Amino acid sequence: MAAAREHFGSRLGFILAAAGSAVGIGNLVSFPVAATKSGGGAFLVVYAIFVFFVCLPVMMAELALGRKSDKDPVGAYRQMSGNSRMWHIPGWLALITPFMIAVFYLVVTVWVLGYLVEIVMGNLDQLTTEGYFTQFINSPLVFVFLVILMLMINGILALGVKDGIERAAKTLMPMLFVMLVLLVIFVLTRENAVLGVKYYLIPDFGKIDASVVSKAMAQAFFSLSLGMGIMITYGSYMKKHDSIPGSARAVAVTDTLVAFIAGLLILPSIFHFNPQIDPADLSDSSAGMIFLFLPKIFLALQDSVGYFGASAFAAVFFFLVLVAALTSLVSIIEVPLATLRDERGMERKKAIYTVGAVQFVLAIGCAVSFGMVDWFTNLTHIAGQGKSFFDLIELVFYDTILPLNGLLICLFVIYKWKRVNLDRELQDGDPTFAGSFSQKYVNFSLGTFIPLILFLVFVNTVALKFFGINLLDLI
Ligand code: ALA
Repeated sequence: MAAAREHFGSRLGFILAAAGSAVGIGNLVSFPVAATKSGGGAFLVVYAIFVFFVCLPVMMAELALGRKSDKDPVGAYRQMSGNSRMWHIPGWLALITPFMIAVFYLVVTVWVLGYLVEIVMGNLDQLTTEGYFTQFINSPLVFVFLVILMLMINGILALGVKDGIERAAKTLMPMLFVMLVLLVIFVLTRENAVLGVKYYLIPDFGKIDASVVSKAMAQAFFSLSLGMGIMITYGSYMKKHDSIPGSARAVAVTDTLVAFIAGLLILPSIFHFNPQIDPADLSDSSAGMIFLFLPKIFLALQDSVGYFGASAFAAVFFFLVLVAALTSLVSIIEVPLATLRDERGMERKKAIYTVGAVQFVLAIGCAVSFGMVDWFTNLTHIAGQGKSFFDLIELVFYDTILPLNGLLICLFVIYKWKRVNLDRELQDGDPTFAGSFSQKYVNFSLGTFIPLILFLVFVNTVALKFFGINLLDLI
């Protein structure tokens, strides 16, 4: 017999927990990298359009489905479809996706933790030496940090929704915000920082093409933690009298604000390091940025604030990324826990051991994918490119299935669960939503162009990543 369903204690608690889920490595690193490479402010404009006009209605749909059903994603689809077999599939996809995303997200977070520990031990200079990153990710230390990280995350989860997830978010999120703002203020007072601000804020719309638009869409979707069953699960922990539209807007604004502010940190730092830099030459990858480039930038701060000052700055930055990743991982791993509790009646602790054991094994497979074990490193070839176990999980679950899950939720709420039920749930706790422009927009967009956009993103991803054909080039 399953225990009574837990709920967030307050609306603020829910908003901070959902914002904690949304704000992650995506905001602090992937967004600034993408903005740097794709027209600065122009990317920000395209991104914000996707967040508020495409992702926000999807978030409301996920929250509404979760709250109405009071269930995990598998149970939510089953119950609200009247146990239709066909609709079991999106429920399972919304469970497997976060389960697998957690696996590679854990490994990247382990590297962040490892770098933080090195910096705190006074070794920032070592992180900038040639080959350090490759050597670090292939060292046995990775397994030690993996154990520590999993203990931290599962320790929070073991305390439950209100005392674990909500309390952690209430402590960590305001701290993250304040520290981020302090770092930005510090960076903006550095020489040549203003060049970075100009580069960031003066939009270059010439850099916006179909592939940048597609990148902004994928980035916004991942950043808001959509398509991963998270918002369905968190919705099921919401109270009936809380406003879903209002809370979803608060989460979207917080997430976008953090991404924007992170840009104000990274770009001025890059220009302080090298005012002549052409950001187009920087690496496309977030991992390249965090682990190869940023340590060099931070070390360069020693010219103005000394080695200790530079190390302190770097430590705060890596700590912020760790906190952001931790609160995201907590939400990602809560999805399978909720499923085991709801569908199997398992106790929270037992669910944590079960999920943790499988994820630990898979995460080890990912961690050894960078040269330690040949089978995992050279697992397969797709579209002529070698793929490791880590690459494969990222490709299948992050790149491909995420937009598919988004498409399925839109189709489900509008055409199976029906608009009238969605409307009713969104009005519950927010009477002003009834008849508002927002209601009409959500209703129309979820049934028309949002699923179309997600369908196109999905088809293009499959064509590009699995068959090497970029459909966007044909436009
Ligand atoms: N939304 C989380 C992130 O941006 C998963 O990293």
